[in-house]
Amino acid sequence: MWKKSLCLLIPCVLIAYYCYAPIPHEIEQHWELMMIWSFMRIQMHIAPLFEMLGFRPFPLLEILVVPPTSDENVTVTDTLFNNVPVRVFVPKQKSSTLRRAVFYIHGGGWVTGSAAWDPYDELGRWMVERLDAVVVSTDYRLSPQYHFPTQFEDVYDALRWFLRKKVLAEYGVDPTRICIAGDSAGGNLAAAVNQKLLNDPEIKIKVKIQSLIYPVLQALDMDLPSHRENIHMVIVEKEHLVEFWSRYFTSDKALLEAMVANQHTPVESSHLFKFVNWSTLLPERFKKGHVYTTPIHGPSELAKKYPGFLDVRASPLLANDSILRRLPLTHILTCQYDVVRDDGLMYLSRLRAAGVRVVHEHVEDGFHGILSFGSSLINFRAGKREVNKYLKWLKENL
Ligand SMILES: *[C@@H]1O[C@H](CO)[C@@H](O)[C@H](O)[C@H]1NC(C)=O
Ligand SMILES: *[C@@H]1O[C@H](CO)[C@@H](O)[C@H](O)[C@H]1NC(C)=O
Ligand SMILES: *[C@@H]1O[C@H](CO)[C@@H](O)[C@H](O)[C@H]1NC(C)=O
Repeated sequence: MWKKSLCLLIPCVLIAYYCYAPIPHEIEQHWELMMIWSFMRIQMHIAPLFEMLGFRPFPLLEILVVPPTSDENVTVTDTLFNNVPVRVFVPKQKSSTLRRAVFYIHGGGWVTGSAAWDPYDELGRWMVERLDAVVVSTDYRLSPQYHFPTQFEDVYDALRWFLRKKVLAEYGVDPTRICIAGDSAGGNLAAAVNQKLLNDPEIKIKVKIQSLIYPVLQALDMDLPSHRENIHMVIVEKEHLVEFWSRYFTSDKALLEAMVANQHTPVESSHLFKFVNWSTLLPERFKKGHVYTTPIHGPSELAKKYPGFLDVRASPLLANDSILRRLPLTHILTCQYDVVRDDGLMYLSRLRAAGVRVVHEHVEDGFHGILSFGSSLINFRAGKREVNKYLKWLKENL
């Protein structure tokens, strides 16, 4: 008898464990989200096993890959820009004028994701349809096989290839109407390449808009109010965020452990804390109920071995005002129930203080990754709503 009960109890506990998530009641479609979340958590748990066997860490996500399929309105091609794989979406209809363009960078914690994933493929098609834009959706090599700055450099190489007069002319793109956009880790890369472009003497083109969708922007302070409030939030838990960050730089567990303890920045770099000081940079509403403590200093050897986390190309919030001031019109989307929410909010404050025009969209019932949940495959109402708002904004401003 007890054996039977045990046989029943174990799967029940497992199911409950994987499904349980403290989803705030403001977020709609609880059950669907819980199903997706349990699928993702299973992935996270089996990832180390797959890595040990030498496979990519998230094999189940391969189901999201779709081939480049053209239809009557859009030509979709997978090609290489400077040896970096990109998926290009070009409207089929002939145009007598030059078109605007979006250079898009997908998310996935620098460890997974692809321009070929269904939600990104679909977003590319919608941009073509709604904006009559040329869309370049770039890939980049991923961790743990490749660490920073490979991801950044791949994206920058593809971007540099695209921003040449000859290539823009080939695709019929208006050089004065270009947007660089990305979500999550792609938002990080978008912010970083936009800063880099400002000091690149070889690139004469001025980007019109940068769009940062729930971007990840700093690796110095792992104890922001949004980290505390969303420690076990759906889609990205704090534990995953810290792991993605440390693995962007190395597979050495020493950095991960130091980041978990928020003791990784050496004393020589203390002057950088002012750039990520949430106590000065967050609006009152998001500070409520939280007490600021300066991160504890970590060993210098760690930062010497893995200087990436102190590099502005990985943590764009570390740029000084003389850089920020020159950035183009910026669109930032943040979600209330998102562990990286405060990165976006702090960048918003810093950009505004530097005199940059910023349009901010805060999604009160949003969670990390919500735009990808607006695709036909997943079809979340709030995701669809935000995708539509986003396309409308781009249409009016690009
Ligand atoms: C192509 O565009 C037309 C007009 O906007 C639309 O009605 C049609 O559904 C589109 N075709 C596809 C395959 O999306
Ligand atoms: C952060 O800001 C608070 C309040 O403005 C200030 O008291 C503290 O010294 C700052 N800490 C750092 C490391 O910049
Ligand atoms: C700002 O950063 C740039 C590039 O890192 C550096 O060259 C410059 O000296 C810095 N300016 C100030 C005022 O710190």
